[in-house]
Amino acid sequence: MKTQLTAFPPEQVEADAIALIFFEEKFEEEEFEEKFEEEEKDELPRPVAALDAETSSLIGELYENKEFSGKALEMAWIHRPAGFLAQRLLLVGGGKSAEFSSAKMRQAAGTALRFAKKKGVRHLAIAPAGDLDPGDQVQLLAEGAILADYETDVYKTSASKREDQAGSKIEQLTILGGREHNSRLERGKAIAEAQNFTRELVNEPGNLLTPSVLAARAIQLGYDTELEVEVLRKSHLEDLKMGALLGVAQGSVEPPVIIVVRYRPKRRPRSDEHLGFVGKAVTFDTGGISIKPSEGMEKMKYDMAGGAAMLGAMKALAELKPAIPVTAVIPSVENMPGAAAQRPGDVVTSMSGKTIEVLNTDAEGRLILADALTYAQQQGCTHLVDAATLTGSIVVALGHERVGVFSNNGSWQERFLAASEVAGEKMWPMPLDEEYKDQLKSPIADLPNIGTRWGGSITAAMFLKQFADPAAWIHLDIAGMAWIEKDKPYLPEGPSGIPVRTLIQVAMDS
Ligand code: BES
Ligand code: ZN
Ligand code: ZN
Repeated sequence: MKTQLTAFPPEQVEADAIALIFFEEKFEEEEFEEKFEEEEKDELPRPVAALDAETSSLIGELYENKEFSGKALEMAWIHRPAGFLAQRLLLVGGGKSAEFSSAKMRQAAGTALRFAKKKGVRHLAIAPAGDLDPGDQVQLLAEGAILADYETDVYKTSASKREDQAGSKIEQLTILGGREHNSRLERGKAIAEAQNFTRELVNEPGNLLTPSVLAARAIQLGYDTELEVEVLRKSHLEDLKMGALLGVAQGSVEPPVIIVVRYRPKRRPRSDEHLGFVGKAVTFDTGGISIKPSEGMEKMKYDMAGGAAMLGAMKALAELKPAIPVTAVIPSVENMPGAAAQRPGDVVTSMSGKTIEVLNTDAEGRLILADALTYAQQQGCTHLVDAATLTGSIVVALGHERVGVFSNNGSWQERFLAASEVAGEKMWPMPLDEEYKDQLKSPIADLPNIGTRWGGSITAAMFLKQFADPAAWIHLDIAGMAWIEKDKPYLPEGPSGIPVRTLIQVAMDS
């Protein structure tokens, strides 16, 4: 999909369809005619000011007949709207204007795009609305539309695609906004395309995306950008004494890797902060010898979503060029119950020197992250963020609505949560009191890899903290959020690409 800006008013944009956002407050055409003088109308927010009388009375009728009420994500359309060059006018509900937000703006753009695409529109135009900053609006519309354009059906042959969805594709997206906002359009594009890149990786099945294939994708990213990509292979991981990671990998024929992606700013940074992004990339999690039930196991192809998010964020940072260095460390393994698999009760020695009793081989994410967190600190990272589909327990706590955020540092957590607000990714702070550590006692080793049934996402985080201290650290448990379970009007069922936007935002804020 190509994107462009246009400075034309809505009526003068040539497109197959133009989408305008309308709010719940009733659209009273006569009121406008009476209340405002001609000059004043020019200052009114579009689209209300400039609509042709015939079209506005048609819209009035839609409201009157309750065919369209402006509720968030509602859609209606008018063919051959009088006064417009576009063939169709797409009305998108924005909800109550007082409650309109950047998140609603992305969603409105996404809803319009998915609706238009299904109806065979090839050139879609979309206009800002409400009173958000005009530059922000351009970025948000681009993000919302590009994210909505993502599809998961990559392995459908064209014949079966044609049956379900008429093979439709939006070729051109035109956003109404002046040329002065071009950098915001580019920023929105970089962010959304990076997030879609992450979603493509997460969508891949376990047979086609092994740790080695993920590493190859990262190497390709290095060729395409100025990022430096290094892949640590098995013998290197052995030299580094990463016993926790190697223990997980030994049950699979697929060799483990750690993918390291480095971004260095050209100019000398003002601060000595060095951001570290650590992402769990288990390309398939069977549970190992503590094998998972077969029902729903196919979902465990998305157990690499944390690592894929780090790669996506780095792809965007290569374009957006933050002021500080950022290093991504992505440990990748396949968790299988092969003949050489580790057993429950095995003791492994992590890179940090701490010994771990592996009571459950399905708690493998924390084992590979332990070594990756140690390595990231050895690489000089001062501020760490890890993301992992770590526990089913976080889904019990927060459902599919928010990412769980754990931290050992209040001010770093505040900065991070502020970035997540701007990025429009919903998160929630979780506790990490010292008392939770009482569950992590092993009679034989320094610590076990699991606690009791209770507070499972917190004891998992507490385990990671033993390897993250003393760096400022944030752990994101994205198990409930990495996969969208049901189609939304603005996003298809499938990988979400969370928390790519927040990672980009926090790096750009630093
Ligand atoms: N990859 C899973 C967690 C998961 C669950 C991700 C649901 C996405 C959706 C993780 O490796 C795991 O198996 N965790 C166990 C830990 C338990 C053995 C302490 C869990 O949450 O059940
Ligand atoms: Zn597991
Ligand atoms: Zn897992």
